[in-house]
Amino acid sequence: MRRSEIPRLHGPVIVIVQVGNVNTGACDSVGEVCEVACNMNAWVHVDGAFGLWAATAPARKYLVDGIADADSWATDAHKWLNVPHDSGIAIVRDSDSLRRAMSITAAYYPDPRPKREPMQWGPESSRRARAIEIWAALRSLGTDGVADLIERTCKHAARFAEGFRAAGYEVLNDVVLNQALISFGDDETTERVVHAIQAEGTCW
Ligand SMILES: Cc1ncc(COP(=O)(O)O)c(C=O)c1O
Repeated sequence: MRRSEIPRLHGPVIVIVQVGNVNTGACDSVGEVCEVACNMNAWVHVDGAFGLWAATAPARKYLVDGIADADSWATDAHKWLNVPHDSGIAIVRDSDSLRRAMSITAAYYPDPRPKREPMQWGPESSRRARAIEIWAALRSLGTDGVADLIERTCKHAARFAEGFRAAGYEVLNDVVLNQALISFGDDETTERVVHAIQAEGTCW
């Protein structure tokens, strides 16, 4: 996203930046977007389904610079942290906005206050205890373990890209996270190679 291309924003607007593009791993300059969009009273949301985890790895942290200025973040624990899906996480700065948007009331629901009742903070009333798996993964890996997981898999992607480049194939992206985007020539050949790799079954 180019800061200079952000138009004048009026009314209730949400600007969504991405950290960790699905195909390339590229990250928007969140701080720059916030500088412009927050001044026009827009809500800036960070889609960090994948890339938010870069914040844990000292050598990759620069990719998420500026996220502290955003209004909300979303990430998935079922991606890089490898817990079972569907473990999406939303983190919202203004807790009152979140509660007002999500809370429901009915005569047969007791007033949750002063207790924190999860169903008042998310879109589902009934849900399994996803947080336990997330907690267990974080607890067993620890801060260094999560950082190592992120850094190690990013290095695997760089190695992957180097190998393909050395074999004469074109790497289409800057490998900044754990995605390497490779072309095997024309589209038809790329499709054929991808299908052959998947059919062979060693990797998908
Ligand atoms: C940047 C990004 N946003 C959103 C999604 C959607 O993920 P989900 O529907 O599992 O939350 C993905 C999935 O790959 C992603 O990489």
